[in-house]
Amino acid sequence: MEILILEENKFDDKAAEIALTQIKNKPNSTIGFATGNTTVGFHKRLAEKLLDEKVDISTFSTFNLDEYVGVSSQNQSSCYYRMEEQFFKPLKLRKDQINFLNDLSEHEDLQQRCIQFDKKIEECGGIDIQFLGIGLNGHIGFNEPGTAFETNTHVVDIDLNTRESKISVFGSLDNVPKQGVTMGIKSIMMAQKIVLLAKGESKAEIIFKSLTGPATKDIPASVLQLHPNLVVILDKAAAQKINQ
Ligand code: GLP
Repeated sequence: MEILILEENKFDDKAAEIALTQIKNKPNSTIGFATGNTTVGFHKRLAEKLLDEKVDISTFSTFNLDEYVGVSSQNQSSCYYRMEEQFFKPLKLRKDQINFLNDLSEHEDLQQRCIQFDKKIEECGGIDIQFLGIGLNGHIGFNEPGTAFETNTHVVDIDLNTRESKISVFGSLDNVPKQGVTMGIKSIMMAQKIVLLAKGESKAEIIFKSLTGPATKDIPASVLQLHPNLVVILDKAAAQKINQ
């Protein structure tokens, strides 16, 4: 595992640089993205760099980690909408380059959507780099504590703790969906490379537990220690505890 502790102004740039190098070296790369506050700057920076450097983006594909059930792509709180604003739209990506579990309805066969998603990852030759954020309880994607390490993409009941942390996105707790769909821990761990991003003091404790404690399903992110090619990018605040 490689841990990079960076100044706030270098954080997004470093993450963008890693993805940029990958796409330049292999234009048909498959990159996995995660929405959340942590990755906004990274997505925008990467889009800027790809455009500024006129990189061939015609053959790369994106996969996104997760989405809420019952929230349409047009809803500003959906993961899709945020990703579209930050990344897809500026780059004018074609629909067939974007793989997303979006517009999920309670009334459809969600399990089938999950199976198709994992199949699509396989057809694309696997994910080259998966970027991840981390939840306060150690979740990655929507893989909440207790999720088995062997899970494929699946439907989840979102923890109350996680729903509370999304009040700023949805306006009130009642508006935060109770279900989501997420790439599973197994699907994530199959990526060639994983880049975990964390910013801010609130993440210091869980980063410390995830990276220095035992790999346990009580802290989903702790599984990442077992990945052979993990890069962790932290700002100084998130690195506080591992630094001590
Ligand atoms: C959510 C998402 C994750 C994301 C995490 C961190 O619950 N399902 O994919 O990585 O929260 O979000 P933030 O960066 O806003 O702290």
